Amino acid sequence: MNKREVVKAPLADQTLAAVYYLSQSVMDAEVRHLLYNSWQFACHISEVAQPGDYYTFSMHGQDYFIVRTLERALKAFYNVCPHRGHRLVEGQGNKSRITCPYHAWTFGLDGALRGARGMARSSIDFENFGLLPVAIDTLAGFVFINASNTAAPLDEFAAELEAQMLKACPDLLSYVPNRGGSEFGHTYVCNANWKVMLDNYLECYHCQMAHPEFNEMMSIPDSQFTLFENFTYQNAPTKKKAENLAFPLDLEHDVLVGEFWWVFPNITLGRFPGTQNFYVSRFDPVEPGITSRYTVSLQPAVPTDEGAADRDRLRSVWTTEVVSQEDKALCENVQRGMGQRGFQHGWYVTDLENHGVSEHAMRHFHDLYRTWAAKHL
Ligand code: FES
Ligand SMILES: [Fe+2]
Repeated sequence: MNKREVVKAPLADQTLAAVYYLSQSVMDAEVRHLLYNSWQFACHISEVAQPGDYYTFSMHGQDYFIVRTLERALKAFYNVCPHRGHRLVEGQGNKSRITCPYHAWTFGLDGALRGARGMARSSIDFENFGLLPVAIDTLAGFVFINASNTAAPLDEFAAELEAQMLKACPDLLSYVPNRGGSEFGHTYVCNANWKVMLDNYLECYHCQMAHPEFNEMMSIPDSQFTLFENFTYQNAPTKKKAENLAFPLDLEHDVLVGEFWWVFPNITLGRFPGTQNFYVSRFDPVEPGITSRYTVSLQPAVPTDEGAADRDRLRSVWTTEVVSQEDKALCENVQRGMGQRGFQHGWYVTDLENHGVSEHAMRHFHDLYRTWAAKHL
């Protein structure tokens, strides 16, 4: 569904008030009532490829694990033992059953209690003591969980998104994690609210001013944001110049049109220009003014050409040392602005005739956020 109608006249409306970017109680409610109840990126499916593979992670103060059962089903559980609350599994690996390290209750990979040491099967109703599951789903090979009891599947929540991803990158399902590049497959911390970082991600009004090298490589006036029900899509063509100020492009093998998605509330996905790639990021609030961005990036299983690894390295250095630093400085500066008595809220520039400067995607984020906030804050 195209949400063009949500966009009103330029400068007609105010952005989210500064208090939403500063308040601890707002952040606590966001974690409890927004992030626990929305689809959160966990890992790539290659981490749990074989029956018995498990993968643990912590997110927003909660410990989880994902496991592939012996019947090859994907499951996700809270990583906590129902007996006394000890963590059940650590790191990642392969198991045929789960044994708690504390008193050795054992569970099948489907979460069912199989044995409680010293307790006869007839003495307790084993069915009532299984692991607590959370919803799990995949999006073109990326694994997501949702701790709400009533989560709509991803293909309902973000209809068309997977099809758009696969259209942009038809070989995506055969891609493998890129463990080499420093900017992909890492966590980085920014001293700004998570929404400041996404506001920055969701507009390219700042790109010509704030990213001179990126601007020289890209054709910013041709960049387009399209709005969908719970996500946005950005199409961002380069100028198709092999030599440019950012990093070398191979006009035969590389991504020449950047494609970027954002999924409400805190997930971004995309294909950055340069060597073939696809990434997913999750923006996690740590404090109202601190955000941790966790990214996993994929690359083709077989390099597209001999020079791909070198170009990948050059792009990695540039994105880490140049464009990410530029955005980090902008976001941290804005976070300070949120706390100034002279700033209560900002203004949207939403000019659909001029996509290169329009902030309608950021506004779409705020509109969805306001709908949530009206119920929960
Ligand atoms: S806490 Fe797990 S068996 Fe006791
Ligand atoms: Fe930027």
